[in-house]
Amino acid sequence: MIRALLREVSDTYADALSQTPPDPPIDLARARAQHAAYRETLAALGAEVVTLASDARFPDCCFVEDTAVMLDGVALLTRPGAPSRRGEVEAVAAALQHWVELETLDSPGILDGGDCLQLGRTLYVGRSARTDEAGIAGLRAAASRHGLSVVGVPLPAGVLHLKSVCSGLPDGRLLLAHGTLPPDAFAGVTVVPVPHGEAYAANTLCIGETVLVSAGFPAARQAVVDAGFAVRPLGTTEFQKADGALTCLSILV
Ligand code: GLY
Repeated sequence: MIRALLREVSDTYADALSQTPPDPPIDLARARAQHAAYRETLAALGAEVVTLASDARFPDCCFVEDTAVMLDGVALLTRPGAPSRRGEVEAVAAALQHWVELETLDSPGILDGGDCLQLGRTLYVGRSARTDEAGIAGLRAAASRHGLSVVGVPLPAGVLHLKSVCSGLPDGRLLLAHGTLPPDAFAGVTVVPVPHGEAYAANTLCIGETVLVSAGFPAARQAVVDAGFAVRPLGTTEFQKADGALTCLSILV
């Protein structure tokens, strides 16, 4: 059984961090409707969904992925790169402790879960404005205790997180937005390209053999279908406005 930890969309979500001020601005009611559809889709696909209450002190709190990284059934709590987000970790930790053991990042560095992507026994981690060398060193120390290796991937300016431009498919292939990162950063991994212009939709979420894809990106959807997977399109416009995407909204345990 897959467990999914989510957190409701905050009353202050319109103030969420964004690299570019959204225009039109975030529609809170629509964000909540999209979040409800996401939650219902995960449940319909068989996940046990637990949704934490939001906290108005943390506009970005629905993006739970950044607060913890799963390492073989243990949750490594992160130190989010954005100072305004560090307080989000506490409530997530309190929920996760009922399911799994917790570890903390043994490092003064910063690490966002959105920069971490596991393929097989390798954790790829984006070196970004939100994840630094010390954070990667802390992740490497924790991952090595679980027999996982860590490979750093430098991100170009303007890419918030590693998973802003790529995600794993159910069979271990990598869905990667064409022209964003060199495929040889993922040596030995088979890459399924998402065509230029639909980079945002390279962030997908796998629930078993089904792949959730952001609605409105037909080429990305077709790439996943051609790769052999069932697709569920979901509206994510209001999360895209805050640089968020499908993986950001849950921690799968
Ligand atoms: N709005 C998500 C983030 O910047 O972390």
